[in-house]
Amino acid sequence: MNPVKLIVKTKSDTYPIIIGKNIISNISKIFVANSFRCRKCLLIIDKNVPNKNILKISKSLKNIEIIKYYLIANEKNKNQKMVNKILNILLEKNFSREDCLISIGGGITGDIAGFAASLFKRGLKFINIPTTLLSQVDSSIGGKTGVNTIHGKNLIGSFYQPKIVISDISFLKTLPEREIICGYAEVLKHSLIAKKNLYYFLSNNFEKILELKSPYIEKAIYESCKIKRNVVEKDEKENDLRKILNFGHTFAHAFEATLNFSKKLNHGEAVILGMKSAVKFSYKKNLIKKKDFRIIFNHLNNDKFPRSIKDYFKLKDLKKIISFMIKDKKNDSNKIKLMLINRIGSTIIDKEYSKKSLQLFLKNELIY
Ligand SMILES: NC(=O)c1ccc[n+]([C@@H]2O[C@H](COP(=O)([O-])OP(=O)(O)OC[C@H]3O[C@@H](n4cnc5c(N)ncnc54)[C@H](O)[C@@H]3O)[C@@H](O)[C@H]2O)c1
Repeated sequence: MNPVKLIVKTKSDTYPIIIGKNIISNISKIFVANSFRCRKCLLIIDKNVPNKNILKISKSLKNIEIIKYYLIANEKNKNQKMVNKILNILLEKNFSREDCLISIGGGITGDIAGFAASLFKRGLKFINIPTTLLSQVDSSIGGKTGVNTIHGKNLIGSFYQPKIVISDISFLKTLPEREIICGYAEVLKHSLIAKKNLYYFLSNNFEKILELKSPYIEKAIYESCKIKRNVVEKDEKENDLRKILNFGHTFAHAFEATLNFSKKLNHGEAVILGMKSAVKFSYKKNLIKKKDFRIIFNHLNNDKFPRSIKDYFKLKDLKKIISFMIKDKKNDSNKIKLMLINRIGSTIIDKEYSKKSLQLFLKNELIY
């Protein structure tokens, strides 16, 4: 497959997403083709990305001074301390705004590195090289950066657009199946909120996509990027439309935070359980017809997905889950705002429900 290019045009910046196979060996050519220049760059590298890929990138950037920093990508390390470490390296190595920061890793690495880039001297050039399916279809697009705090997930951050996103599908070969499923969850989310045809493409080709078969995986990535691109172009700063991307996420963030960001439930798995809760809640509130509810629910009940919140939580966790839902950045009072669904490919923004109503719903989910 020849590389494809999608242009993202937001109010603050315009940049390309390049999607292809084995394109990291040609990064210097991608820089030239996109008129990107820098003197030196700091690579923030996820330790789990195989070294042979890093060598390909360094080789291609041989005319640029390179400094490498390796991190262990987990939600516990996605914090202000890690951002400070990166900022200190940039200061010690005397980086200027003409230089650049490159993230090579999944959503965690990209969110941390992007946030550090946005802070350094009020904005260092940032390039994102996403290496997980989730980051290629979702987190690398749209400029949301940030870190977790003890109060919840992604509560400190910025909107900061990269200069280029380079999505090389060959990174996915070393990704555990569990992570492929997490990325699939976000593609599924995009189809549910915006494109019925994509939903049916996914449900018809589910196995082939998980096995990374061509051209199915490429189509899933490209279509997913396009949906996210279309949304962030219209609403970069999440004033309105962009909120649809949070479908399932208020539940998901609360599930992750309640488990203290444990590896037992990673982000994508939490998103699957979050979407399941959101679809079920939509049905309980008569927002979606039984036929669509059944179609979506059958898909979400696939054996490869986490099954139920009951496998992760006990009734005693309910209070904690609800308190994290209230603290989620989309909520500003004791009421909880949710993105819900009214049919495949269409959502309802900011439906507000009382704490009590959510408590009752989740209690039932945890008991039956
Ligand atoms: N900024 C946004 O708009 C946005 C959107 C969605 C999610 N996110 C954030 O993204 C994060 C989740 O991203 P993720 O799922 O990519 O997780 P991640 O960065 O933790 O990566 C998942 C796992 O895969 C490993 N890994 C990465 N690349 C690999 C490769 N090529 N081969 C083998 N292993 C590899 C990592 O070390 C990690 O163990 C969450 O923190 C979430 O909040 C951000």
